[in-house]
Amino acid sequence: MSDTDNDKHEQRSVKKIDVFLTPCEIGDERLKNQTVIVVDVLRAATSIATALANGARYIIPVPSIDEATSLAAQLSRDSVLLCGEREGKIIEGFHIGNSPAEYTRERVRARHLIFGSTNGSPAVVKAAAARAVYMCGLVNLNAVIDAFLSRIDPFPLILLCAGKLSRFAIEDAVCAGMFIDRLRQRQIGALELNDAAVGSEILARKLGKNLESMLRHSDHGKYLIQIGAESDLPLCAADSTIDAAPVLREGQLVKHAGKGSEEKHGNGT
Ligand code: MLT
Repeated sequence: MSDTDNDKHEQRSVKKIDVFLTPCEIGDERLKNQTVIVVDVLRAATSIATALANGARYIIPVPSIDEATSLAAQLSRDSVLLCGEREGKIIEGFHIGNSPAEYTRERVRARHLIFGSTNGSPAVVKAAAARAVYMCGLVNLNAVIDAFLSRIDPFPLILLCAGKLSRFAIEDAVCAGMFIDRLRQRQIGALELNDAAVGSEILARKLGKNLESMLRHSDHGKYLIQIGAESDLPLCAADSTIDAAPVLREGQLVKHAGKGSEEKHGNGT
């Protein structure tokens, strides 16, 4: 091996993970050539994983309500369901809100979903500049780890926390930290972390033992309790109970097809 080959090999074997605690911290250029996992525990990732596990064909994440409604008009199919929230509540004229409990098999099987939420769906749309994009909550943590590790060349990895209105959300950081911790358990070698990744792992070790309590004490968890969505918290806290890893393919979130399937979503390099 020449010196240059050695350098390249070393660069590749460094498993770099950066956490961004809100989407506004990162620009499109920085996303290129990265695998990005968008983390939104409360509640978009939980609802989307539930919908895919219950047989939804695909979910189109949109950045705004206007885009959701105009896309629904363009698609004009009976099978389309308009889904999403503003201030945590169902949007007038939409079929489904953002409670994971609403995404039952009866409602979503074989349907095409358009999904607009305040933080989660805009974060996925932003992440589309990356070479591969997945969506993760606590409910599908192990499924997303499996999907990520099944990629031929998964690193470098960015864990992009959706946060809350451009602010830090503790539940997303805890989930990102648990993701890193579980990667370590798979003994994949040394990891190189940025400060936010180190901090997320420390938070996960401290708060990851009682996830429902962590959610109840979070800003968004308290808000959901206040608007009557308390019953969503145990659903969102149920670690790795859903075997569905949403992956972005040509603007649509679909269920990852399993080991060995390399996903390309069309916008990446
Ligand atoms: C979001 O994407 O902003 C959240 O899922 C908000 C919510 O809990 O409905």
